[in-house]
Amino acid sequence: MDATPVLKIAYVVAAVLFILGLKNMTHPRTAVRGNYLGALAMLLAIVVTLFQLWKGDGSFPYILIGLIVGSLVGITLAVRIEMTAMPQLVALFNGFGGGASVLVACAELLKLTPERATIDVLIATATTAIIGAVTFWGSLIAFGKLQELNLFKNSFGLPGQQVINAVLALIALVLSVLLVQTGTGTTAIALYLAIVVLSSVLGVFLVSSIGGADMPVVIALLNSYSGLAAAATGFVIDNNVLIIAGSLVGASGIILTKIMCKAMNRSLTNVLFGVLEAGSVMDTDEIYATVRSTSADDVAMILDTAQRVVFVPGYGMAVAQAQHAVRDLANQLIANQTAVEYAIHPVAGRMPGHMNVLLAEADVPYEQLIEMDLINPTMEQVDVAIVIGANDVVNPVARTDPNSPIAGMPIINVDKARTVVVIKRSLSPGFAKIPNPLFAAENTLMFFGDGKSATLEIVAALKDL
Ligand code: TAP
Repeated sequence: MDATPVLKIAYVVAAVLFILGLKNMTHPRTAVRGNYLGALAMLLAIVVTLFQLWKGDGSFPYILIGLIVGSLVGITLAVRIEMTAMPQLVALFNGFGGGASVLVACAELLKLTPERATIDVLIATATTAIIGAVTFWGSLIAFGKLQELNLFKNSFGLPGQQVINAVLALIALVLSVLLVQTGTGTTAIALYLAIVVLSSVLGVFLVSSIGGADMPVVIALLNSYSGLAAAATGFVIDNNVLIIAGSLVGASGIILTKIMCKAMNRSLTNVLFGVLEAGSVMDTDEIYATVRSTSADDVAMILDTAQRVVFVPGYGMAVAQAQHAVRDLANQLIANQTAVEYAIHPVAGRMPGHMNVLLAEADVPYEQLIEMDLINPTMEQVDVAIVIGANDVVNPVARTDPNSPIAGMPIINVDKARTVVVIKRSLSPGFAKIPNPLFAAENTLMFFGDGKSATLEIVAALKDL
């Protein structure tokens, strides 16, 4: 019996599951189901592909070995990874997607016959080389930056970086046209490799020059690129489910990039072309001259009389795993008739929705999470803003210093609250590596300590009042 129609139907089912998965991921309540549907779709696509290769050209055993090794690496990484290191993992996965696309298209080119070397296949091959290589190297640089490896701590850019980038892109395009004209053979393969090398340098340059507050946008963009590379590879090997899944990733990634740019007040073109943001140097000693520290007992007394308290979580809450302690403190305040909300900044933490995920895990009711745009106009009526492990997303310099690397990025205006309590371990900077004048403001008290233990101390002090 011809199994082809069954396989085609299975591919369509996988594609529908991908779409349903994405739909479910648009709401926190259904996001987990969305993930499962996506994983099921991927499993189905893999099984169908393996089935097709079963009696193929003898490559099945090699593919099986690759599959087993890849699965073991993937499972180990996913099980061992700390929640705070998830963005690095996502960056690596994006990169692997781009790298795999480059290799698959190269393998196809090696065995491409003149009959199959149609213009669409060749355009898709060149497109894969460019986007895949940019994604692979760009993602590796993004990984280094997110992991805060020494080599990647500072953003760099050569003089005239944008012109260099434009020239590299232009040469890659010209070589692509030559590849399409050449079709097959050693010249075509040499051209393909040259495109890959140029695009790799371009990927390194594009991401190296981006730093501080723009990293979230870059990750979303690289995610989109990895999808586009996969979709292009789908055209190269004539695989519909790869085209559909790749397009979904590409489109959703670019929508996320657009949303991020809007939320961060950044220009998509600047991020696309790797424009280095200006940076001014601030004198930390001068800025922190008036810092006042406080204790759990003092904070408990202030909270006892407060009518409206807003928690502003950031990356430090994730590091400290303080979400359960924060929820306990919030519940205690609510029992004391205090109104409690959580102000959520779109890029707090290290991945989109990071704070929402952590607070949902601690069973914080979704209605208590208020987005930045909604809570900011009411900040002056907040009695106490408790900043827990957040730094860049509450740094007023974004509003006041046009030369700051985070200039123009919207922040949660905690400085406008009557009293601000900042819980963190020291005066160390956040991801953007700049001092924060909020810590020395007149209405700010610094409670130095680990996010979880400091919060639990406040809980205990409140009970003792
Ligand atoms: P950050 O500005 O990174 O600040 C986090 C603060 O948490 C640090 O200053 C650190 O100070 C404190 N901290 C660390 N461990 C702690 C612990 N155990 N207990 C208490 N505090 C602790 O965080 P943010 O305000 O959430 O801003 C996020 C930044 O990351 C932005 O610049 C954003 O652009 C960037 N970024 C975001 C994403 C996404 S998509 N969300 C992705 C990549 C980059 P101490 O060391 O003094 O404790």
